[in-house]
Amino acid sequence: MTQIQSILDFANLKAKSQKFSVITCYDYTSALIAAASDIDVILVGDSLAMTMQGHKSTVFANISDIALHTKWVMRGLESVKSKIFVIGDVPFLAARSDLATNIDAAREIMQSGAHAIKIEGADGNLELITHLVQSGVPVCGHLGLTPQSVNVLGGYKVQGKNDAQFQKILDDAKKLEDAGCFAIVLECVPTELARQITNTINIPTIGIGAGNVTDAQVLVWQDLLGLNTEFKPKFVRKFANGADAFTNALNDFHNEVVNGTFPNESESFK
Ligand code: KIV
Repeated sequence: MTQIQSILDFANLKAKSQKFSVITCYDYTSALIAAASDIDVILVGDSLAMTMQGHKSTVFANISDIALHTKWVMRGLESVKSKIFVIGDVPFLAARSDLATNIDAAREIMQSGAHAIKIEGADGNLELITHLVQSGVPVCGHLGLTPQSVNVLGGYKVQGKNDAQFQKILDDAKKLEDAGCFAIVLECVPTELARQITNTINIPTIGIGAGNVTDAQVLVWQDLLGLNTEFKPKFVRKFANGADAFTNALNDFHNEVVNGTFPNESESFK
């Protein structure tokens, strides 16, 4: 049973020092599986550009992808009356245009069914975030390694390792809270930085590669379930061996077909 029924529960859980779980999810069938679990929050992440489309970075996700996948996820959740809170990611450059265009992007994600949106980075986004929150759009921040900026950051590297970066990310977290964010994702930062942010701000931190000191943890669906055979970042734990389980099932099916043992009599019509 999810611990988060509405936006208010993010602050409630933080106040009670109660941790919560977040998972990325991109489609109807997976949403049904998430709905049957205790997962608290779903993120329709722009990581779908990599996990679902095979791109090398999230730069390739666009607003129509996020909207489409959010609709698929919502259709799954709604079909089983699941109340899991859903955050839709604002993809590369979709919040970096003029105000009207940025608002259109937020509208498209919200009207796809998401309960909130996530925007990467603080620099240049604070006014927009305040405007969106005041307009009725809950916004989750995202600091540290912001994958949409991979080409500026020079790769997928831990952020906040030197004093200046450490202080900047700490300051940015406070600014995002002041701008009205209801939570902040902290990606690939030293545990000590995540600890200081978590202890400084009154909104929950959601860590990925940020140690176990954050208020919540998020993992990518394919990473958590061991479906991603291409690489395994240090911060990922595989909670299942999905790829092996699926390959074995496919081989079992293949063998039973070529041996003539599938389908059997009870799987056939009289
Ligand atoms: O898109 C995504 O999957 C994310 C998570 C890694 C936080 O932003």
